[in-house]
Amino acid sequence: MADATFEAGPNIALVKYWGARDAARVLPNNSSLSVTLDRLRTRTTVRFDPTMRADTFTLDGTIVTGRPLDEVSQFLDRVRALAHNENRASVDSTNNFPTASGLASSASGFAALAGAASTAAGLDLSPRALSSLARQGSGSASRSIFGGFVEWRAGRRADGRDSYSVPLFPEDHWPELVDLVAVVRDAPTKAIRSGVAMQATVATSPGYGQRLAEVPGRLRRMKRAIRDRDPESLFDATIEECDSFRGVCETTVPALNYLTPTSRRLLEAVRAANREAGRTIAAYTHDAGAHVHVFTTRPALPVLNRRMAGVDGVARWITAKPGPGLRSVAGGASTRHRARDGAPV
Ligand code: PMV
Repeated sequence: MADATFEAGPNIALVKYWGARDAARVLPNNSSLSVTLDRLRTRTTVRFDPTMRADTFTLDGTIVTGRPLDEVSQFLDRVRALAHNENRASVDSTNNFPTASGLASSASGFAALAGAASTAAGLDLSPRALSSLARQGSGSASRSIFGGFVEWRAGRRADGRDSYSVPLFPEDHWPELVDLVAVVRDAPTKAIRSGVAMQATVATSPGYGQRLAEVPGRLRRMKRAIRDRDPESLFDATIEECDSFRGVCETTVPALNYLTPTSRRLLEAVRAANREAGRTIAAYTHDAGAHVHVFTTRPALPVLNRRMAGVDGVARWITAKPGPGLRSVAGGASTRHRARDGAPV
């Protein structure tokens, strides 16, 4: 039986996916934009085996049961349906960062699983098809198929065929840009899944409609800023977007409060650095969790590092930059997977 091993990195959304027009198909209300990160990665091996009676899932060497196994199994069902393959599979994943720490392991996890499972099943999917497949495991995973700067186009179709991610700019487009990831100590483990939490926001937050109206303009501004490598415009829009996202979360009933006092101190430290500089030299953003990403440029690093070092409660800092998308791993060495049409995945 053939097996396949793939790696993918998490991504951090600068424009957030928060709210679905069809939660079952994972079809979003708005397009989103992210940066795929280097340094962090999930590596997954899938092997279909006609002698197995049930799927198995091992994560960082531990056998996983319950809901995470069910989610993996449901995902494999989609692959089996596409490949006309009835066999059960073993899925073996490792993260080089703490799982469920709020560092977006579901994005890297389902992206790597999409690559490994489809290849092990004998499919040869295009990058777009892989992105649609990954989307159905976790929305944000659709973006981790690609490296660098990525847009997930919301699409309009009821069947979701036009909802997939596209690469905007490659990982080496803007070498000066860095993401200082603050892994916050005592971050609570996620209470409700993002997919459920976001639909509560859609249903109850009074500001959600306004947010939806603003997002397309912000997305356009960000794409221009990234194209022009204009840090000030990108950082202004990133902060605005993060505040909008947090605003609708906190006005959800019951409220979704993702930040800890340490996270809030980090946000304040970025604001203080910008005030001191007299212009926007850095941006903060966070997902549905307590960790904070601080985007800045290399020339501003000394100033930022000094400010951030004064914030208590950070377990560790990871300096990340835009990284590669999904790649296959053969004999331990990773190579960019090339799709049937020759385009890099
Ligand atoms: O795709 P999910 O279900 O992991 O939800 C992603 C939600 C956010 O991380 C908050 C935003 C995003 O676009 O990644």
